[in-house]
Amino acid sequence: MIKFVPLFLWLTIVLTSVGCGGGLAKVDVARVITSGRDGWQHPERVMEVLDLRPGDRVAEIGAGSGYWIARLAEAVGPTGRVYAVEVEPGLVGALEEWVAHEGFDNVEVVYGAYDDPGLPDGAIDVAMTCLTYHHIEDRVVYFRRLHADLSPGARIVHLDDRPDAPAPISWFQSSGHWTEPALIASEMREAGYVRVAAYDFLPAQSFQVFALEDASPDTFGASR
Ligand SMILES: C[S@@+](CC[C@H](N)C(=O)[O-])C[C@H]1O[C@@H](n2cnc3c(N)ncnc32)[C@H](O)[C@@H]1O
Repeated sequence: MIKFVPLFLWLTIVLTSVGCGGGLAKVDVARVITSGRDGWQHPERVMEVLDLRPGDRVAEIGAGSGYWIARLAEAVGPTGRVYAVEVEPGLVGALEEWVAHEGFDNVEVVYGAYDDPGLPDGAIDVAMTCLTYHHIEDRVVYFRRLHADLSPGARIVHLDDRPDAPAPISWFQSSGHWTEPALIASEMREAGYVRVAAYDFLPAQSFQVFALEDASPDTFGASR
C-alpha cells in the first residue's frame, strides 16, 4: 500500500497543476480526464455563447446520439423548437425513442438527406453543427441550399475538431476528423455567409458563428 503513495502524490500534482490557462494553449488535464466529454466540450460555456431564447427554433445538423439536444430543448423552452437532424437510420430511430422517452415535446427528429437537412422553409433561427462539418460533402452547395431554411437574422454555428489541439485532447482525436478553421470560414464565405464571431476557449474545437451575407445589422440576431 505504502508504495502507491508516491504515485498517488505524483498524479495529484500532475492533475492539479498542468494547464488551467485560457484558450487553446493549455488544457485542464484533470477536468478532461475526470469529466469525459464535458471536460473538453465545455457545454455550459457554449450554451452561454449561443444565448438561445425561449421560442427560438434551432436545428442541430448531425445530432448523433443527442449530446446537445436536451440542452437546446431546455434553452428554447416549450414555445421553441429543436430539429435534431440525422442521416443514419439507426441513429434516427434511437433519437426518436430517446426523445419520446424523455418527453421532449419541443424536439422533432428529422431524417435528413446527405445533401439536404430537410428543414422547414424560413423557420430556423440557429443552425448548428458539432463534429459534423467535416462529414458533409459539397459543403458550399449544402450551406447555400440552407439559405432557404433560415429565418431573417439566422445564425449558423460550427464547432469542429481542430488539427492543432494540445495533449491530452489530441490523444483521443481521430486523425483527419476535423476541418481547418480557415477552410470553414472560406467555404462559408463562398456559400454566402459572413463570419460574425469566433471563440477560442475550446481546446479541441474551433467555434465559429456565421450570418447570411445579406442579413442587415437590424435583422441579424433579431431575437436577442
Ligand atoms: C461525430 S457525430 C457528432 C454528433 C453530435 N453532433 C455530437 O456533437 O455529439 C457526426 C454525425 O453527423 C452525421 N452526419 C454525417 N453527414 C451528415 C449530413 N450530411 N447531414 C446530417 N448529418 C450528417 C453522422 O451520421 C453523425 O451522427
